[in-house]
Amino acid sequence: MALETGELHPLFVAEASGIDLRRPLDPAQVQAIEQAMDEYAVLVFRDQTLSQAEQIRFAMSFGPLDLGLRKLPAGPAAVNHRLEFEALIDISNVAPDGGVAKRDSRKVFSNIANQLWHSDSSFQRPKAQYSMLSAVVLPSETEFADLRAAYDALPDDLKHEIATLETEHFALHSRFALGDTDYTEAQMAAIPPVRWPLAQVHPTSGRKLLFVGVHARAIIGYSLPEGRMLLSDLLEHATRREFVYRHEWRVGDLVMWDNRATIHRGRRYDLTERRELRRSTTEDLLPVRMAAA
Ligand code: OGA
Ligand code: MN
Repeated sequence: MALETGELHPLFVAEASGIDLRRPLDPAQVQAIEQAMDEYAVLVFRDQTLSQAEQIRFAMSFGPLDLGLRKLPAGPAAVNHRLEFEALIDISNVAPDGGVAKRDSRKVFSNIANQLWHSDSSFQRPKAQYSMLSAVVLPSETEFADLRAAYDALPDDLKHEIATLETEHFALHSRFALGDTDYTEAQMAAIPPVRWPLAQVHPTSGRKLLFVGVHARAIIGYSLPEGRMLLSDLLEHATRREFVYRHEWRVGDLVMWDNRATIHRGRRYDLTERRELRRSTTEDLLPVRMAAA
C-alpha cells in the first residue's frame, strides 16, 4: 500500500497511513516516508504497536542508529539498560526494579531535561536525523516546533545578523541549567562540545531553518551573555504558538520527527505516575550547511 498523509497543523505535521511499520519496508516505502518527512517534518503513525525488535528494524531503514547521551561513561549511580537493544532509548521514569523511579533520581532528571525545547543529540557530531517515539504507557503531551517556519518569519535584519553565526552545543548544558551538576570529570569530558551554524539549509528539502534549542550554550564570537540572550530570544521566537504542534498521545501512536527541521519537548507530568516511551534515532550523516553559504 502507498503512504497517505493528512495534515494535522497548518505549517507542518501529518498523520501518515497506508504502511504497516511492523513489516520490513521496501525501498519505495522508505523513499515515500523520507519525502513526507521533508515536507511535514513530523509524521504521526496511528495503531502501530511495535515490538522492540520491530522498532529497531523500522529505524534502521533510515540509517545507522544514534545512542545520544547513552555514550556517557557510567557514573556513580549507573543503572542497567532496561530494554532489549542498546540503541533503543528508554524515555521513561521506570526504575530498574520496574517501579516508578524516585523523583530525585537521574532517570527523572533526564525526563525533566526532555521538557526543555531541544533537537535530539545536537550536542554531538553526528547529531540526530530522525527520531521515532512510541508510547508504552500513555504519556503527557509532546510538543514540536517548526524551525523552518520560524526562520521564514524572522525579520530581515535578524536573518542577516545570524546568517554566518555558529553556535556551540554541549551535552550537559541543559542538565546544568536545571541544577543537575553531579557529573564525574570523565562524564563531562566524554562528549566534547560541537559547533553548528545557527541558520542552516536543510540537506534534503532545501528549506532554511533556525537551529536553536537548549543544548546551545554559546554563539561563537559573542560574549556569553550577549550570545545567550540572542539564543533565548530566538528560541522564544521559534516556539511561538503558531509554530507549535501539541501531540496528545493515543495507544499505538508512533511519532517520527526530523531533528534537523524541528525541536520538541515533553510536558510536565505527575512524577508519581508511570510515563513510558521508547525512542529510536538515526544519525544525521549529511553535511550541515550554513544558510548564507
Ligand atoms: C525524546 C523526548 C519528549 C517526551 O524522546 O527525545 O524528548 O514527551 N521526548 O517524552
Ligand atoms: Mn528528545
